[in-house]
Amino acid sequence: MEIGSSALLFLLALSLVFTFGTAQNSNPTASSCSNDRGNFTAGSAYETNLNAVLSSFSSIAANDYGFYNLSIGQTPDQVNAIALCRGDVQPDVCLSCIDNATTEITSVCPNQKEAGIWYDFCMLRYSNRSIIGVLDRSIVIQLVNPSNVTDAASFNTALNNMLVDLMNRASSGGSLRKFATGNVIDPVLQPIYALEQCSPDLTQEDCTTCLETTLSVIPGCCGGRRGAQVILPSCFVRFEMERFFQEPTNETTSNSNNNNNTSRIIIAVVVPVASVAIIIVCVYFFLRARKKKEIVESYSSRANITTNNSSDEVFPLAKHEDSFSEPYPR
Ligand SMILES: *[C@@H]1O[C@H](CO)[C@@H](O)[C@H](O)[C@H]1NC(C)=O
Ligand SMILES: *[C@@H]1O[C@H](CO)[C@@H](O)[C@H](O)[C@H]1NC(C)=O
Ligand SMILES: *[C@@H]1O[C@H](CO)[C@@H](O)[C@H](O)[C@H]1NC(C)=O
Ligand SMILES: *[C@@H]1O[C@H](CO)[C@@H](O)[C@H](O)[C@H]1NC(C)=O
Ligand SMILES: *[C@@H]1O[C@H](CO)[C@@H](O)[C@H](O)[C@H]1NC(C)=O
Ligand SMILES: *[C@@H]1O[C@H](CO)[C@@H](O)[C@H](O)[C@H]1NC(C)=O
Repeated sequence: MEIGSSALLFLLALSLVFTFGTAQNSNPTASSCSNDRGNFTAGSAYETNLNAVLSSFSSIAANDYGFYNLSIGQTPDQVNAIALCRGDVQPDVCLSCIDNATTEITSVCPNQKEAGIWYDFCMLRYSNRSIIGVLDRSIVIQLVNPSNVTDAASFNTALNNMLVDLMNRASSGGSLRKFATGNVIDPVLQPIYALEQCSPDLTQEDCTTCLETTLSVIPGCCGGRRGAQVILPSCFVRFEMERFFQEPTNETTSNSNNNNNTSRIIIAVVVPVASVAIIIVCVYFFLRARKKKEIVESYSSRANITTNNSSDEVFPLAKHEDSFSEPYPR
């Protein structure tokens, strides 16, 4: 009886860890409809080409670097599209995400010649101009966790050092993949997990320029926060206090000096402890959440966008995944 219920509790705990560890929002994170780049009309050649490009993604052959570019038609009705998956996403999940993006983008941006949509796992952009190999910083989307870390000075220093390191690693990643992840623990034991990625068709210089822009935005929007994303058309950065990306299988990370035995021991110990902690936290926040349902909403309401074209419609659409995996206490 006693053992039975603890075993059940343990299984429940494991399933929570699993759910939380892999939970990702399948809704878009943000979208951008570029009104200043022109509109197309129903029945136009541009619309035909756009639909052809978008439907082509559903039959595209998977590759293991998650970057796809397609062009259909002749100028002035040519449609150029780029789809890019986050560097840790498996090919099947990548294609599923892109597939979702192709249907969603036409409902979010019904008549724009240029648009983009972003998800946790992938992004999709299209335009009548050539966009392959072109650095684009025309919009800056910021998604900010309203909760703050305990020791901002310590956190920000460690975060900034890691972000610069990841920028250098991502930008030197080669023409198929410009992606880097890492994690560190700051001097007061606050964990930081971060990820940076450029569209791999950018040059190393353009990737660096793009990521420098995201990094320059962070102190103003996101310093001392428990998590944030800064998204530009050509690159993005994200950090959180818990792991939100897959462990790289064959890539050096900032703390890759653990050997296998150590990792196994840590997993064996941490999982049950973390499970119990998560249950306690869940119960606590479940009770709290009944009074403060608006907390979950506040992540997206703090989202902030700047564009160079004031008439662009840019929507931060989704609640951040962490509104799921981590309730935000005040
Ligand atoms: C894209 O469309 C816009 C608006 O119709 C137009 O001004 C621009 O010249 C087009 N660009 C190309 C490369 O065709
Ligand atoms: C394009 O259409 C949107 C509405 O869908 C409108 O707000 C915008 O002004 C249009 N842009 C141009 C250049 O006509
Ligand atoms: C695509 O959408 C379906 C239906 O909403 C969802 O179940 C699936 O998880 C989505 N795929 C990805 C990779 O988000
Ligand atoms: C976090 O810190 C910022 C700036 O220091 C402050 O404006 C904000 O209210 C804080 N957020 C919370 C939830 O305490
Ligand atoms: C984009 O697609 C074209 C046509 O398939 C291909 O030749 C080109 O190499 C691709 N560019 C990149 C950067 O992947
Ligand atoms: C890891 O990558 C290196 C080159 O980047 C390669 O030589 C090696 O075989 C890879 N190892 C595994 C286990 O995939």
